[in-house]
Amino acid sequence: MASTENSFKLEEEYLLHMYKRMPIEISHGEGVYLFSKEGKKYLDFFSGLAVNALGYGNKKIISAIEEQIKKYIHLSNYYINLPQIKLAEKLIRYSWLSKVFFTNSGTEAVEASLKLVRKAFGPDKKIISFSNAFHGRTYGSLSISGKEKYKKLFAPLLSNTLQLKFNDVEELKNSVNKNTAAVYLEFIQGEGGIQVASHQFVKKLFELREEYGFIIIADEVQSGIGRTGKAFAFNHFNVKPDVIVLAKAIGGGLPLGALITNEKYAEVLQYGDHGSTFGGNPVACAAGLAVLETIFENGLVNEVEILGNYFKSELVLTAQKYSSIINEVRGIGFMLGVEMRNPCSEIVKEFMKNGLLVNCTNDNVIRILPPLISTKEHIDYFINIFKTTLDKNSL
Ligand SMILES: Cc1ncc(COP(=O)(O)O)c(C=O)c1O
Repeated sequence: MASTENSFKLEEEYLLHMYKRMPIEISHGEGVYLFSKEGKKYLDFFSGLAVNALGYGNKKIISAIEEQIKKYIHLSNYYINLPQIKLAEKLIRYSWLSKVFFTNSGTEAVEASLKLVRKAFGPDKKIISFSNAFHGRTYGSLSISGKEKYKKLFAPLLSNTLQLKFNDVEELKNSVNKNTAAVYLEFIQGEGGIQVASHQFVKKLFELREEYGFIIIADEVQSGIGRTGKAFAFNHFNVKPDVIVLAKAIGGGLPLGALITNEKYAEVLQYGDHGSTFGGNPVACAAGLAVLETIFENGLVNEVEILGNYFKSELVLTAQKYSSIINEVRGIGFMLGVEMRNPCSEIVKEFMKNGLLVNCTNDNVIRILPPLISTKEHIDYFINIFKTTLDKNSL
């Protein structure tokens, strides 16, 4: 067996240097835990960046995959495939929208939605999104993302896009008008540092839609599928977007994304307007079906709501104790962020040494995305180690 050090050397040699890896090598996962090659156990509260909603080794996902691969792994979208239809039916049931198009990823779902917007509203009307938003890395989704550092080296980007300040009601009122085609919103920004949209901001946005008739697209790639204790983050606001884009958890760990539209926009994209060789892969859809059934039909989503409240209150207490290093706790359900007063990439490595996996986003926000199967015991364990690590780092 090659040593971890050797694996890093080989990766350096053979792979483009696109990702800064954490300094461990994982051998396998089990439930909410990951194990390193050396046998060390980690509580994984990052969940493969919100993908592994049911943790590792989930039996329902594994048997759904096994059953499907025996039938066919791939067919091409020239043929109808039952797992796609079944999953679409469930997504419509839980979103209350109308029709689904499957992709392989979040960024591709956003691309599909951008084509829908351009076809429905023409080339000149503006597509609006917000500061610190993250919608993906391909050209269209990058164009509407809010972080300059990801965009500045890749101009020219899509024209007729505009970024407004997140949660700034006045700027929204003054900028949205009859020339607005679409507004993209993460009701809870993930990459942007677990920033929750204010109720006032969301209310104004939906009032403006009534006035000007633009389309509201909810980016639920990170926040969807029960992560916040409701089916989608927008459910916390009692509003209904026209379109949702999804990915991450819906494929049970396999690459899958989706665009869901309401009735009004369901006929915009027609035969030949868009497509994908792999989008809606039957194995990924079969796995996704197992995920949705477990989250929505076995009461897991309600657990997330209750435990999410508990987890947040424990983090708030922790923040009070360590106010010299913690600025704020934010988020809903199992999508939580602890904003530190200083950059957090080093402290996240300290957590790792102590057996906790979390992530540092937006420079100083510890992003916590537990698997939805986490229990109160896991949360208590997390808080315990979290405090011990902070103790050493707040001296
Ligand atoms: C809110 C949001 N939108 C879009 C994306 C892009 O998804 P993907 O990485 O699957 O392309 C992400 C990825 O983190 C995301 O968090």
